[in-house]
Amino acid sequence: MPIEKSHDRVILHHPKGASTEILFFGATIISWKAVDRKGSTASERLFVSSKAVLDGSKAVRGGIPVVFPCFGAPEHPEHAKLSQHGFARNEIWSFDKVVMDNEAGVSVKLTLNPGPSITALYSKSFQLAYVVTLAEHQLSTDLHVLNPSNDESLEFQALLHTYIRAPANDVSIAPLLGKSYIDKTEKTLDGKPALKQETRSGVDVRTFTDSVYEDAPQKVEVTWPEGGLETRLAGFINVVVWNPQAEAGSKMGDMEEGGWERFVCVEPGYVRGFKKLEPGESWTGQQVLSLL
Ligand code: BG6
Repeated sequence: MPIEKSHDRVILHHPKGASTEILFFGATIISWKAVDRKGSTASERLFVSSKAVLDGSKAVRGGIPVVFPCFGAPEHPEHAKLSQHGFARNEIWSFDKVVMDNEAGVSVKLTLNPGPSITALYSKSFQLAYVVTLAEHQLSTDLHVLNPSNDESLEFQALLHTYIRAPANDVSIAPLLGKSYIDKTEKTLDGKPALKQETRSGVDVRTFTDSVYEDAPQKVEVTWPEGGLETRLAGFINVVVWNPQAEAGSKMGDMEEGGWERFVCVEPGYVRGFKKLEPGESWTGQQVLSLL
């Protein structure tokens, strides 16, 4: 069966050995196994902390949580009651349909509409759809945002918080040379995060890293001596590179000991300013992860 659906998740299988597992909680992808281009057995490409909470009481520490409608602490007045990274990663999404199921790929669609737990904190209308497509060496995640209102605009931020399984101290992320970025690990005298320009041709995360790049390239490569992935972006204008290292990771209750050595987050987002949709308009942010 290429698509296995249970009460709390859906698992997709590709005939060539790849698979992916999506929790309805947060539409969080918690596993992506893929066979490398040399054709060995399928291995895990995402990191999920062994201390991650998977019972729906807390956002998952790992995989690909969906961030919407705010990134980080809320900045927009309409988001004032929301918590860090918004509600999408903490809500139960609905399984909508199988979009595709053939040799090229297996694809499903999940949706999220405002329910009581959302409307208690957030008054805007929106419709989210998330289409996850598994191919032999590739995982595509497309987030669609629609403003169904007849008279109000919708302003939001969105991001796919992708935890790539990798030897963090050996990764190089490129091409970001020359890009402006906000370094959230460093504050200026007025308390704002430092604005910098990237001077490295390959960015590393050997120290605590929390960088929000402007003007994201359409393709980012994450490489290390034994492997690598590329992530292609469409619709997203930023890319966040995050690794807490022991400095911040050791303070997270749901981070396994030394977990920060086993992943790097490379997160396509629309998180500087807000994407604005007029009534009836929609937007799509797409991430395509491929094995190199
Ligand atoms: C990153 C942010 O995207 O997510 C960081 O840039 C944040 O500032 C990190 O610490 C993890 O966030 P959370 O809410 O999942 O602990």
